[in-house]
Amino acid sequence: MALRDRLAADERGGQDNDLAAVYRERLLEEIDVDELARLSPAQRRVRMERVLSRMLSLDGPVLSARERSVLVQRIVDEALGLGVLEPLLADESVTEIMVNGPHDVFVERYGKIERVPTRFTSVAQLHQTIDRIVSQVNRRVDESSPMVDARLPTGERVNVIIPPLALDGPTMTIRRFPTPFRMAELVERGTLDTSTAALLGACVRGRLNVIVSGGTGSGKTTFLNALSGMIPQHERIVTIEDAAELSLQQGHVVRLESRPANVEGRGAVIIRDLVRNALRMRPDRIIVGEVRGGETLDMLQAMNTGHDGSIATVHANTARDALGRLETLASMSEVDLPVATLRDQINSAIDVVVHLERALDGSRRVVEVGAVTSHRREEYELVLLVRFVADPVGAERVVSGTFVPAAVPPELAERLHRAGETVPVVHAP
Ligand SMILES: Nc1ncnc2c1ncn2[C@@H]1O[C@H](COP(=O)(O)OP(=O)(O)O)[C@@H](O)[C@H]1O
Ligand SMILES: [Mg+2]
Repeated sequence: MALRDRLAADERGGQDNDLAAVYRERLLEEIDVDELARLSPAQRRVRMERVLSRMLSLDGPVLSARERSVLVQRIVDEALGLGVLEPLLADESVTEIMVNGPHDVFVERYGKIERVPTRFTSVAQLHQTIDRIVSQVNRRVDESSPMVDARLPTGERVNVIIPPLALDGPTMTIRRFPTPFRMAELVERGTLDTSTAALLGACVRGRLNVIVSGGTGSGKTTFLNALSGMIPQHERIVTIEDAAELSLQQGHVVRLESRPANVEGRGAVIIRDLVRNALRMRPDRIIVGEVRGGETLDMLQAMNTGHDGSIATVHANTARDALGRLETLASMSEVDLPVATLRDQINSAIDVVVHLERALDGSRRVVEVGAVTSHRREEYELVLLVRFVADPVGAERVVSGTFVPAAVPPELAERLHRAGETVPVVHAP
């Protein structure tokens, strides 16, 4: 019987043929668990593969080299805990794993989604893997709690939703957070150029309030993280997020994360609550991962009451649009403020908007940096300090172009100057 069929027989529950299970058990008996614990994940895998191959060649069934290696892989994967997902988790380039039922697995690499041949042998096996994952954080998924959202001890974010809510079987999304890019790496990748990075560095050190805007997946969080890297080491930074993604390198960082309501619908702590609480924590800077609603007003008020140098991201289509979005979001708070008042808040709070875009070829780029020059209740006025001018796209569909700087408006130049920062001098082209 071919191995594939034998494994399929496993799935049908044929205990007689449960080769993988038998060897998995023997492997776990034979191997020194304490020794394993001292190894790195990669070494652990190699060690287990070795022991298992030896066992199989001593008394295992007759298998071709290929069949043996498939079997070894599968048993080791299962023994390591996350079953067939292990190779995907071991792959550094995978940033998201999406399991839509046992037979449809997709991953995201470099911002692109692709289907992978990974399959669970059955719904039961998928359930087992899900149970293993969520039990690490003392959660369970069953009829009474069919949705779970959790962060693993290793930092990944996991969301599980099962039938009948998910129509095509247990569905799991694992988001991983690769080592974040530093500003220098973003420059290297062409996300922005050196002078734009220098200008933004001056803005951050000079305690301007900065908004990072862009569409979904345009690289806002990544950029926010890199930008935060420019905050001086000694400052007290409070970060506020829905799902903690930021990883700041500074020594004095307090990370806050919101919490959804429990099954009875109680106990929710929203971004808003956290922003308000953060104000009582003597922060030098407040960083809000993404503003999506009424908390925008609290953030603007924080920026206007001495918490300069704060940074947040917002979903918007252009730098100019970001200001309009902030206004709409701030108006979603239960405090009913006239539009003119909101505009006043935004004009005085926001200094700089950095807008990112994801191009056709998947590359992410700073396409606009704008300075807010309007005051009080005036219509928003945004002066572009830098804009990306794309070259015509050739046959290879690779996007290239130039970052075109413009003069820094006098008021902003003055502020940077007072903060001891050098203001770039731009000569007319
Ligand atoms: N400048 C960049 N260059 C290359 N890849 C990037 C860049 N910024 C983000 N990415 C990748 O794009 C994906 C989405 O980035 P993220 O910062 O989470 O976007 P957003 O917060 O706008 O939704 C991630 O996989 C991230 O690694
Ligand atoms: Mg984000």
